[in-house]
Amino acid sequence: MPRVLLPVKEHAVCIFARPRDFPCPKVVQEEEPHEVNYLRLMQEPTPVHFAGAKEKGRFILTDFGRHFDTRAIHAGESPGPDPGSHVVPIYQTSTFIFDDAEQGARRFAGEESGYIYTRLGNPTVRALEEKMADLENAEDAVAFGSGMGAISAAFLQMLSAGDHVVSIRTIYGCTYALLTGMLKRFGIEVTFVDGRDIDAIRDAVRPNTRMLYGETPANPNMALVDLEAFAALGKETGIPTVIDNTFMSPALQRPIDWGVDVVVHSATKYLGGHGDVIGGILVGSSDFVGQIKDDVLKDVGAVLGPFDAWLLIRGLKTLPLRMSRHNENAQRVAEFLQAHPAVSSVHYPGLPSHPQHALATRQNPMGFGGMISFHLDGGITAGRRLLNAVNVCTLAVSLGACDTLIQHPASMTHSTLDQEQLIAAGIDPGLIRLSVGLEHVDDIIDDLRDALDYA
Ligand SMILES: Cc1ncc(COP(=O)(O)O)c(C=O)c1O
Repeated sequence: MPRVLLPVKEHAVCIFARPRDFPCPKVVQEEEPHEVNYLRLMQEPTPVHFAGAKEKGRFILTDFGRHFDTRAIHAGESPGPDPGSHVVPIYQTSTFIFDDAEQGARRFAGEESGYIYTRLGNPTVRALEEKMADLENAEDAVAFGSGMGAISAAFLQMLSAGDHVVSIRTIYGCTYALLTGMLKRFGIEVTFVDGRDIDAIRDAVRPNTRMLYGETPANPNMALVDLEAFAALGKETGIPTVIDNTFMSPALQRPIDWGVDVVVHSATKYLGGHGDVIGGILVGSSDFVGQIKDDVLKDVGAVLGPFDAWLLIRGLKTLPLRMSRHNENAQRVAEFLQAHPAVSSVHYPGLPSHPQHALATRQNPMGFGGMISFHLDGGITAGRRLLNAVNVCTLAVSLGACDTLIQHPASMTHSTLDQEQLIAAGIDPGLIRLSVGLEHVDDIIDDLRDALDYA
């Protein structure tokens, strides 16, 4: 008769149900004692107290005649003890088994910690959250299915109808669209100001302002927000501050250290680092993250899947190494572009010509990141020719991958803004954005040189 190996919980009374007309399963062999989990067999509610279960041990039971279809589902599936895997395992499961009905009720009532359902929490996702909280010097973190999931969760948690947001003017296109579109429908107003001007942010504050929102460096014009002054303004006015840290990652910039309250990320970018995952992260105080988990994540549900969390955990291990190479390559590429006769302007905080270079040096001593934007003398026509001529650089949106990505914000990442909004947001229609990758820098520069000759 076929056998199944079933681990039994230490000191637990094993309750299982036998198929009708089947004898009570008997222990046929006891193996070496070790940490064990529990036994759960379904079907008939006929509890059988199983003497051996009171001992620490592992038992081989006969399968007592379950059908092939049932065995295809259950055989070998009992969640055994962690065998000590070197990396965090992918807990690719949507739900978690309770020991008994009472435990299920206690977990739902919040009287006992433990996993219930992956929308509410998952060990692989939690490992990512703990890593990110640590890297951002924050109390806690929560992961989302995308950067926009994290950003919209912050808005949903912090804002109500009748509230007002002061946001810097140049931000990622979908964040802009969310603030001016959907949030407006829910009765939330926004005032956009130049993020380089702290007094302009202060002047825009109203009695009903409930959030100061910024990105630094801003996507795509690479303008900076002075994080120290921004956080201080938040403290002075009692208004929570939120910063999108996607362009820098915690390897280069930790806004919490400057006093910012909440940090959001598109984890899709530098955190993953390989262009193979979409995800988002929000970090902040334990209370705030707890509220988001209870109120937004649970009911809105933009959760990150366990496999994607695992990819992000893997990506984060090399984040400091990658960022340091992004820094070096971008600095060289920015210098090359600045010296090229066809390029009219280059926006990179690491260039002394950047109007906020002094602030960048103070705020980002670990480096200025891998993002550059620039204009060509020939405007958008020359820009399109450049995009079509590159070979090493990849013509694609997104950023922070291993390969160099080139794109045109006005017609791509920021196409949610109309011409008037683009001008108001400081995004010139001819601007080209480059996410400098990890290739050998000479190959990136040679490719750009050849493509610029053609453009
Ligand atoms: C600065 C910034 N924030 C947020 C997002 C949104 O991230 P996701 O695409 O992961 O939703 C992006 C995407 O490009 C971004 O560049």
